Amino acid sequence: MVRAPAKINLFLHVGDKRADGFHALQSLVAFTAAGDELSFAADDTLTLAIDGPFGAGLSAGRDNLIIRAAKALPGTAGAKIALTKNLPVASGIGGGSADCAATLRGLNALWGLKLATPALQEIGAGLGSDVPVCITCRPQWMEGRGEIVTELPALPDLAMVLVNPGVGVPTGKVFGALKERRGVGLPLPPPFAAASDLVAYLKDTANDLEAPARVIAPVIGDVLDFIAAQGALLARMSGSGATCFGLFQNGTEAERAAAAIRAAHPRWWSVATRISAAIYD
Ligand code: C5P
Repeated sequence: MVRAPAKINLFLHVGDKRADGFHALQSLVAFTAAGDELSFAADDTLTLAIDGPFGAGLSAGRDNLIIRAAKALPGTAGAKIALTKNLPVASGIGGGSADCAATLRGLNALWGLKLATPALQEIGAGLGSDVPVCITCRPQWMEGRGEIVTELPALPDLAMVLVNPGVGVPTGKVFGALKERRGVGLPLPPPFAAASDLVAYLKDTANDLEAPARVIAPVIGDVLDFIAAQGALLARMSGSGATCFGLFQNGTEAERAAAAIRAAHPRWWSVATRISAAIYD
């Protein structure tokens, strides 16, 4: 089984629009224990079967990023791929990108291609801005349009709640509605000794895409208010939304918050999870 963890932009600052139409970014990215699951088996043809709670929202056809990833590898052969889609689709936590990256890793192993991480990241960059960062699933500092990634030391263990209100906000539309940008001048962060150091650092940052996403889907504001009201240390949107996260003191608090959210908003998706060093290995 190959895991495709959710990608969380703990902060996301946006700079100028570049000549290629993409915006310059800076982001601190972490991965959660919660994620999709894929399996890869040798076969004569390339097929993809999808199940899981969010499987119905996805097509297994040629446009699927998993099939595109398989075809982007040198020496494409057959494989029987199965995806269990646990994460909401197109929701700012990199589900599609994580699945794509997991496919590059899984088929690299299955087909014995022996491509190193930088080569997989380069192929991933051609498939989507968020794919390179999802190749290693380790905490990273993300720059460029998302394709320049620097691996960071492990982050402190932090309990987290993910909440998605079930609305789709297209990434291009969110970037198009952007008004205020913090720019991309931050240096690499220091190593964080304790969870409280990381939370203090994050409080001086923001997700610049949160304001435009809230204009497009005002329910995102309700989600953030609800997470904050559960006693979160920090409540913020990830990526271009609509999934938001809350950081909590410990796993019990996160479980309690997720249960409260599910009880008050049964149509919202919510899960208690964590970012920690242990899940990457
Ligand atoms: O690369 P990806 O498919 O995720 O990008 C979707 C859209 O989001 C792009 O077409 C672009 O309009 C916008 N975008 C951007 N700057 C980035 C990443 C995405 O403007 N760094």
